[in-house]
Amino acid sequence: MSSLRSAMQKGKRVGLEMVETAKAKRKKSKITVKEEETVDAASPSTYHTFPDPADVVLLRSQLLNWYDKEKRELPWRTLAMTEPDLNIRTYAVWVSEIMLQQTQVATVIDYYNKWMKRWPTVQDLAAATLEEVNQMWAGLGYYSRGKRLHEGAQKVVSELKGQLPCTVDSLLKQLPGVGRYTASAIGSIALGHVTGAVDGNVIRVLCRLRAIGADSTSPAVTEALWGLANTLVDPERPGDFNQAMMELGARVCTPKGPLCKQCPVQSHCHSYRKVHVKQEKNSMKLLGKLDRKTSALPDIEDCMNRSCPLCPSEPWDDELGVQNFPRKPAKKPPRVERTLTCVVIRPGESGEDEYLLTQRPNKGLLAGLWEFPSLLLEGENSEMKQKKALCAEIRRILGTHLTESLIQYVGEVVHIFSHIHQTYVVHSVCLKDCDTQTQTENAQWLTRSALQEAAVSTGVKKIVKLCDSLDSQKEQTSKDGKRQKHTGLKNEKRTQTSKKPKLSVANGGSRQLSLNSFFKTVKEESC
Ligand code: ADE
Repeated sequence: MSSLRSAMQKGKRVGLEMVETAKAKRKKSKITVKEEETVDAASPSTYHTFPDPADVVLLRSQLLNWYDKEKRELPWRTLAMTEPDLNIRTYAVWVSEIMLQQTQVATVIDYYNKWMKRWPTVQDLAAATLEEVNQMWAGLGYYSRGKRLHEGAQKVVSELKGQLPCTVDSLLKQLPGVGRYTASAIGSIALGHVTGAVDGNVIRVLCRLRAIGADSTSPAVTEALWGLANTLVDPERPGDFNQAMMELGARVCTPKGPLCKQCPVQSHCHSYRKVHVKQEKNSMKLLGKLDRKTSALPDIEDCMNRSCPLCPSEPWDDELGVQNFPRKPAKKPPRVERTLTCVVIRPGESGEDEYLLTQRPNKGLLAGLWEFPSLLLEGENSEMKQKKALCAEIRRILGTHLTESLIQYVGEVVHIFSHIHQTYVVHSVCLKDCDTQTQTENAQWLTRSALQEAAVSTGVKKIVKLCDSLDSQKEQTSKDGKRQKHTGLKNEKRTQTSKKPKLSVANGGSRQLSLNSFFKTVKEESC
């Protein structure tokens, strides 16, 4: 425990320095505030800051009291509080922060627990293979994060004698995938360094608190937000303070439907006050108690700098209320892609069916993950052309010659990445076991259970799900059919036997195939 305490003590010292700097700045800002508001657009008007130290002290205690009562027990929080070894604690918080980038807390919990059980130290992670890491990460999304954690762990072991960096600056410089926010979060939560940490939730809380409505990704707003976070952070409990800000953003000051009535720092919120002042004004107007001239005047609390880089360029929208803040630039629409994919199945040696998977390149989207053989679709292609292309791709991988008629259309699966709207056009083919022995570095046959465990993307899981749902539909239809008349099977058989040689597939006559039927009959011409 002693290392934890000394780290915290050290943190407090750093905190004092920060507070001193902040105080000095505040003194200066008091003297020059008038000039700043009219002359210096680079430093924010006091409307967008916390110029009164008493307000800062009050906000800290209100927020931390709320956090102490309301916080969720999360495994990384428990580790950050109880793990006495500084290096393990830093590793544990690093893993959590990387997992939490772009992924919801509820989703991360299970992954985090499994990860820490398997690789409880940075040395354990460094000794793992990338394949194992990808496997563990499967389903979490943004796969380069796992890869970077692994790279970072190997660097720590090979270049830093197994010791994680222990300052915000060195975390930022030495760990791949660690940016300004993540370094500050690790620094404050694991090491007790007094620094603010500005993530998406904190951006929203701060923008609303101080009515910052300019593009929240602009350099002026970014700097202002970090300035605010560094002023507000509690020097006694920096990690808790930062997590309390995140928690407030996640649970109270939410993007939509914020719970302002439950907000512990409501009394500091310019947006909340603005909503109420506007409502008051509107009702006075309705009652005829406010003339036009007065109602057009800016509110006393508004920013007085006409060219303020933090104020919104668009007018306040009454309907949005506090959701007027923050503002983001319009998102680029996602790229639309269609990918041809084929579920190739063979009967395995153990009697279980096996699926052909190929590995994606080591760089770029879904790097190193396994998927069904796939091809990017360019332009409009007839179904026959698509099947031809798939045959060629399967031949390239397996060396097996197939004809287009053996490939069955299954359906479409949509998967949305942050920047790509992807549609998988799913086909399938069942092979006989001959000529399918390929097991190269980038292609392998996996049983169903191995496939569930493999490093595959969510897109692949959705394709399997589509096949499963068709499978159960098919089973149901066939049960119903049997109960009614026994004609379906007959027809199927006829279709099968009438299939030309080369390879034949089960259920050749129906357009959509079920997974079970993939597994069944296959004849191969080349055998
Ligand atoms: N998001 C990022 N870091 C977090 C943390 N430590 N707790 C909850 N949500 C978070």
